[in-house]
Amino acid sequence: MLVLGLETSCDETSAALVRDGSEVLTNVVASQVDLHGAYGGVVPEIAARAHVEALIPVLSEALDGSPGPVDLVAVTAGPGLVGSLVVGVAGAKALAWAWEVPLVAVNHLEAHIFAPMCEGTLPEVPFLACVVSGGHTLLAEVRGVDDMEVLGRTLDDALGEAYDKVAKFLGLGYPGGPIIDEMSAGGDPRAVAFPRAMISSGDLNFSLSGLKTAVIRYVAKVKESGGSLPPTEDIVASFQAAALEVVVRKTVLATRERGLGSVVLGGGVACNRSLRRMMEEAGREEGLEVVFPSAVLCTDNAAMVAASGYLKHGAGFCAGLELEAEPSLTPGGCIPGEGRF
Ligand code: KG4
Ligand code: ZN
Repeated sequence: MLVLGLETSCDETSAALVRDGSEVLTNVVASQVDLHGAYGGVVPEIAARAHVEALIPVLSEALDGSPGPVDLVAVTAGPGLVGSLVVGVAGAKALAWAWEVPLVAVNHLEAHIFAPMCEGTLPEVPFLACVVSGGHTLLAEVRGVDDMEVLGRTLDDALGEAYDKVAKFLGLGYPGGPIIDEMSAGGDPRAVAFPRAMISSGDLNFSLSGLKTAVIRYVAKVKESGGSLPPTEDIVASFQAAALEVVVRKTVLATRERGLGSVVLGGGVACNRSLRRMMEEAGREEGLEVVFPSAVLCTDNAAMVAASGYLKHGAGFCAGLELEAEPSLTPGGCIPGEGRF
């Protein structure tokens, strides 16, 4: 089955052709990073307009050389920015109607969770999913394509958002995640003792906005006292160590609580080299299988949407032309215009 995936939930316009949910034939991603860089974050109105401009060229490139007609169209219906989501949803509806093929609506968070399918590394259910991106930080027990339970989430900023905000404050550029990842490699993670928020809270939730404030306060305090700041590499390495220690600790805690033997990491921050190293180390200690998709499948892309759509279609889900974008969709949440056959 040849599936066309479409992804426009935030600031990446992407289209992909995936065969049988696992063989990625094309995965075209047009990033808007240059457009939003000057603002230090995604500007929703600019993002929506850029999707309109990029959709047709990205689609044409993804479909170029298609081995045959598309059998199914899968599109991200939420969560995300409403003005961005509607561009992909409208495009997908038009294509499914014109080609007379079924349409399936995909939850962006579930797409991050099922991304390893594209590389044949998705573990057997049940497993623990840890989604860490610019908009989300959550832990979920995944028991099936339509059966997952959120165990914990951030109560304020998402992990990627914290990276981006700290980088913006330090004047390092946008997006902050990859920059801090790179700089931290040459820094001392023990240079500054930033707080590990909620590390012993006993639940599986996170709080990251306090850590960002702690970095800002620390810099202000050192400057006020006339002292000299450690190298920026040390500050970002220390920030990163504090943030990631909590994520890894709570991921392990969740697997223990639920008796799960494997962990799937997804979302843009899952590209992070320290997180990968720390999670693999924890996995070895705990006897856990730890799965990371390759970087292009961690950040927003349509191949993961096609794979997730293929699974949903197999489970009997379908969407009609009344499908609507659902900006605040949660894993396992209801999508307007979706049903089962
Ligand atoms: O999954 P994604 O592409 O979009 C959302 O669904 O949010 O994630 C983007 C986020 C940004 O906050 C970016 O700074 C972060 O992922 N990110 C990273 C790295 N690469 C991207 N954070 C830490 N280390 C990285 N290497
Ligand atoms: Zn994402």
